[in-house]
Amino acid sequence: MDPRQLLRLIGLASFAPALRPLSRFQTNTPDVEIELTAAPGEVSIQPGAPTRVWKFTGRVLRGPATTLETIPGSYLGPVIRLRKGQRVRIRFHNRLPEPSIVHWHGLDVPDVADGHPRLAVEGGRDYVYDFEVINRAGTYWYHPHPHMRTGAQVYQGLAGLLLVSDAEEDALGLPAGNGELLCVLQDRRIDKQNQFEYAAGGMGMAAMMQTMNGWIGDTVLVNGRSGPATDVDRRTYRVRILNGSNARIYKLAWSDGTPLTIIGGDGGLLERARTAQALTLAPGQRADMLLDLSGHAAGSTVELRSLAYPAEAVGRAGMMAETSPLPQGAAITLMTLKVSGTVGTRVRLPERLSAPVPLWAVRTDAPVRRVALQFRQMNWLMNGRTFEMDTVAADETVAAGATQVWELVNETNPMGMAMAHPIHIHGRQFRILSRSGAETNPLNEGFSDGAPTDTVLVLPGQTVRLQVTFSQLPGLYLYHCHILEHEDMGMMRNFRITGRA
Ligand code: C2O
Ligand code: CU
Ligand code: CU
Repeated sequence: MDPRQLLRLIGLASFAPALRPLSRFQTNTPDVEIELTAAPGEVSIQPGAPTRVWKFTGRVLRGPATTLETIPGSYLGPVIRLRKGQRVRIRFHNRLPEPSIVHWHGLDVPDVADGHPRLAVEGGRDYVYDFEVINRAGTYWYHPHPHMRTGAQVYQGLAGLLLVSDAEEDALGLPAGNGELLCVLQDRRIDKQNQFEYAAGGMGMAAMMQTMNGWIGDTVLVNGRSGPATDVDRRTYRVRILNGSNARIYKLAWSDGTPLTIIGGDGGLLERARTAQALTLAPGQRADMLLDLSGHAAGSTVELRSLAYPAEAVGRAGMMAETSPLPQGAAITLMTLKVSGTVGTRVRLPERLSAPVPLWAVRTDAPVRRVALQFRQMNWLMNGRTFEMDTVAADETVAAGATQVWELVNETNPMGMAMAHPIHIHGRQFRILSRSGAETNPLNEGFSDGAPTDTVLVLPGQTVRLQVTFSQLPGLYLYHCHILEHEDMGMMRNFRITGRA
């Protein structure tokens, strides 16, 4: 018997990775080695008492010093900048009072480096990740992934951006350095003592309903600050946005009516830019845009906003009315850009942003797998199943490199209840083939489905068909709803990639 199997039988599965043979990098020197520590800390968010948070801090042990960029005064973890082809080692130190593990959202990594909850380590322990960056340039991110505690840990502050660059992107000469605005959107409920309130999973009807609907805050923080104003020059900016919220869905737009120039999504650049009046961004998703301020007058302002939409567009799990003063769909000014007199570089939008990625060519022969998103007995399920730590059903087993079409069907239960679910598949950038249903839902018009993506929002009553080509790296991975309370409640499943077919 495989010793891993034996350990699983006696309930010691979490020690199993120690028995794995060394990966081919552990014997080699990595190109980049960093230390990432999760620990309690304090930051000042509003006037008055500091806010107690949990926070990632990092240190570069080997490789370019620019690999980590700390965001001053923020609870967010350092921005990790990696390059395609780099061999990376990350030494994670868990200094929290509970188990944790880190997941690199969007990256195609070996399963032992993917942050599956079965790999969580106790507070005081470490976990070493070794992987090669095989993803192309894009806006990825990282956050904890322990079983039933992902929502709470992200909410306490544990999250950060992970940006990958490559030669194809370099050649475009997109704005970089000061020309790049990074925005992480997260809503929080902040009490009178300036502390984050989070009662998901707690007792009582109100807490239960908020858990089932997803935890909504009453203040939106951008990079950990509330309603920030940023001085900008008259030049072109690259604006990269992460929705790092537990449950809030934004419908992004510029306040002056300038259309959004979308150049990419979760998994890197589009082939060609497209413009849109608004962009629906669900939890877990990223947007990559250009903003040309060269024609704006000195002294003018532009706001990044979330446009109003009716809360019913998201749906809900119960009959109870929304209790948040800033419900889903509230109009929000996220960030104000104040245009200075300084004239900077105007970057012409490249005609072609990236070459077509062969993996996304439509394959009409791909087998179709139906995944129903359901609400039953006060629980969010996929195909009638809830999360099981080590279990994989037959239909959740795929050969390395295989291509499938997943048909995500968002069902309405007999009580008329359904919610929008951002469904995320680990380690994959997939292609959205079609949507049907929910055509009149105001969030539907904000979708930008042309970009490679790892998280797709499926509206109540909607069916999304996506084409996914699985990793060449065998092992146990996850797919789940990225409303973190839904994920923690068990709207998550494993899939196993077996050796090549
Ligand atoms: Cu961003 Cu499994 O998650
Ligand atoms: Cu992920
Ligand atoms: Cu969900």
